[in-house]
Amino acid sequence: MIVILDFGSQYSELIARRIRETQVYSEVLSYRTTIEQLRKLNPKGIILSGGPSSVYDQGAPKCDPEIWHLGIPILGVCYGMQLMVQQLGGEVARADRAEYGKASLYIDDPTDLLTNVEDGTTMWMSHGDSVTSMPSGFELLAHTENTPCAAIADHNRKLYGVQFHPEVVHSIGGLALIRNFVYHICECEPTWTTAAFVEESIREIRAKVGNKRVLLALSGGVDSSTLAFLLHKAIGEQLTCVFIDQGFMRKYEPERLLKLFQEQFHIPVEYVNARDRFLKALSGVTDPEEKRRIIGHEFIKVFEEESRRLGPFDYLAQGTLYPDVIESADTNVDPQTGERVAVKIKSHHNVGGLPKDLRFKLVEPLRKLFKDEVRKVGRSIGLPEEIVQRHPFPGPGLAIRILGEITAERLKILRDADLIVRQEINQRGLYHDYWQAFAVLLPIKSVGVMGDQRTYAYPIVLRIVTSEDGMTADWARVPYEVLEVISNRIVNEVKGVNRVVYDITSKPPGTIEWE
Ligand code: XMP
Repeated sequence: MIVILDFGSQYSELIARRIRETQVYSEVLSYRTTIEQLRKLNPKGIILSGGPSSVYDQGAPKCDPEIWHLGIPILGVCYGMQLMVQQLGGEVARADRAEYGKASLYIDDPTDLLTNVEDGTTMWMSHGDSVTSMPSGFELLAHTENTPCAAIADHNRKLYGVQFHPEVVHSIGGLALIRNFVYHICECEPTWTTAAFVEESIREIRAKVGNKRVLLALSGGVDSSTLAFLLHKAIGEQLTCVFIDQGFMRKYEPERLLKLFQEQFHIPVEYVNARDRFLKALSGVTDPEEKRRIIGHEFIKVFEEESRRLGPFDYLAQGTLYPDVIESADTNVDPQTGERVAVKIKSHHNVGGLPKDLRFKLVEPLRKLFKDEVRKVGRSIGLPEEIVQRHPFPGPGLAIRILGEITAERLKILRDADLIVRQEINQRGLYHDYWQAFAVLLPIKSVGVMGDQRTYAYPIVLRIVTSEDGMTADWARVPYEVLEVISNRIVNEVKGVNRVVYDITSKPPGTIEWE
């Protein structure tokens, strides 16, 4: 394993993902991790991340200086390098010019860390401080036009520093450098593979759960589907999957999900038709936050009833992923047992409010994985692409895509319109070009004309966006012909709609969803 000590860089997670791409397991830990904890973890190598501070700032984050004497190879990246230099007796100073963006890297020592990295290759820079004097024992590996010490090494102690960011995609020689560090310097083996993960997690689930029973709320996304598959493989009938149908899924999705699990995977699913119940609870409600609150609350009630009806259960399976674990490090832990406790079911379902006798212990087999790794596991165990590559879909589903009151009639209209959007995007092979593509129904009516008839009906908004991570987004430049076909089909085929508009707002200032 490679440990990444995080000094607050926006790229720390990315470093971990890059290491894992070389099939070596890596974890992101706080820079405050103690030397005893590090010894116990016994990593093959340590990477010190970048960070927003200057090593001279008051209160700048520092790792335990004992780290330099552990005898484990260390690579400092940007701030991590500057910290290494400062603590070992070299000098760091504010550079004449801050350097951001691409820079050509000229190699002074093409061995070791820079083996197979081409002279003059592009690396990504983002720094205000620079190393002006190396600590004793260090040698220069590479420089750029603005940065005399762009890569340095103490070969004997296996301490390395790079001023650039090898982890970002713009650093052309970055992956080669990471591979050199991981394989040649740290001598890691490529053991972090999907097959090894599946095997190991099945073993771990069995050891943890023993002969106890586990409850899982299936939603149809890649996380809960992969989770169900792994658990079923590990403990068979000790697992109970519940699928609570709130009535807000897309057309044909509940049927498809049940068919897939029951007929193809032979995993039994308790189907709970709660559609009427949710509609009733939402009757007359128009405020977006109120809708979400009611849906979350109702979900917990149904979930609680079902777990009593089907239980008792000892464990709740939760699709927590690695980014959630990094973000919530040290929280959500029962101080008495040290076990993580259920604070929320992923997405919007907060189970923190469950009564005491329903407090489950958690089983979270995906907690070491990034999303792209879950997809790989999902694929390897035979989940179809329509689930593995599915666009994000909000927990409250279509309920937050009908503005104003939710009624059965509006749900039917939205479902039919949404199906047309998906069909047209899919048929043209555009699905993977977009982050999300969906329809929204507005609770107003406008005048139109069809044949010789005046119409007075709802408009549908098309929301099709591109995005890297959902935090920011842009409206997709969908070809006019595609918009034309979608519009024509919706107005002609969906009764109750006489107008289609396209949302051309980016995020920010808009959000992706309309509620
Ligand atoms: P916004 O609308 O905030 O959405 O730009 C960003 C991303 O989050 C999804 N989203 C949700 N996902 N439960 C979820 O699981 C929710 O309540 C929820 N609300 C928004 C949205 O679809 C987009 O991908």
